[in-house]
Amino acid sequence: MDRPARAAASAPGKVILFGEHAVVYGEASLSLAINRRTRVQGEPRPDATTVNGYPLDTVHHGYIHQALRAGWQGGPLRLETHSDIPSASGVGSSAALSVATVAVLQRLRGEATDPRQVALGAFETEFETQGAASPNDTTVSSAGGGVLLAPRALDLPGVQPLWEIHRGERRWAAHRVRLPSLPLVVATCARKSRTSEQVAKVRRFVEHNAFGRDVVKEIGRITLEGLHALDRGDLRRVGQLMNRNHECLHTLGVDSPELARLIDAARKAPGTFGAKITGAGGGGSIVVLTEEPEEARRILEPLSLHAFVVQPDLHGVLIEA
Ligand code: PMV
Repeated sequence: MDRPARAAASAPGKVILFGEHAVVYGEASLSLAINRRTRVQGEPRPDATTVNGYPLDTVHHGYIHQALRAGWQGGPLRLETHSDIPSASGVGSSAALSVATVAVLQRLRGEATDPRQVALGAFETEFETQGAASPNDTTVSSAGGGVLLAPRALDLPGVQPLWEIHRGERRWAAHRVRLPSLPLVVATCARKSRTSEQVAKVRRFVEHNAFGRDVVKEIGRITLEGLHALDRGDLRRVGQLMNRNHECLHTLGVDSPELARLIDAARKAPGTFGAKITGAGGGGSIVVLTEEPEEARRILEPLSLHAFVVQPDLHGVLIEA
């Protein structure tokens, strides 16, 4: 394949329906790519690499810097990014940026786009940049649609194996999941969420509390029960399980007053089946499953930085030029 003079790729954000944090300890997680994307464009330039017109900076452009370090031996690049995914808010902005950047570099190297290779490269990028991560967000962003991550390949109704991911001793099996239509709303609080800090906080909790592991295992059980409820199309049960998953995240210490206020308002809204944190927590976002998404969005909007109805995005990484 020829090396193009310019490449562009986009990748979606995600919501985690069940299993954040527990997935870091080898439990299952279930996520859905959403109709908000990050687009990256790249082309050679004569002198130093720039991002959106600014010199590449290891602090401000950590993910891009890491992706270049691992996957680019060519000369300087002009990179432009554009995103409608709220940043540092638990809806997968860093994963989408990593996925789209890795895909652009793959194209500029003259290689065909392979979502699995992109997912693996983007996971390495996130892991090296954040210090700890599961391949959850980068897999969903690369594959699109519904994705179940589990410690081994599972043979379950509505679930098909996608690919496996290894890192050191750890191993994850990614699966494609057929999900029913899910009326979901995301509400983001003003406080940003740093995934690495929240992951470290949960690690301290799990290491210092005898029942920490039990909470993590409980989240794993909820995820698999949620998968079955989704397969039956039983949204009422899915909502109850989302509430239970949220209580576990609260116990792990990643709830916050801002998130609790949003959860409370969401649960009081007419038509709500359930609501939970999505992503690392501490700040960031909640996801609400509701019969009346427009009404929930209207109620949450004045309390949030962003409140929006989400649609699934069945496309993962897309080459756009
Ligand atoms: O980066 P976020 O906020 O979407 O959270 C990712 C999910 C975690 O389980 C908290 C971390 C991980 O790497 O799986």
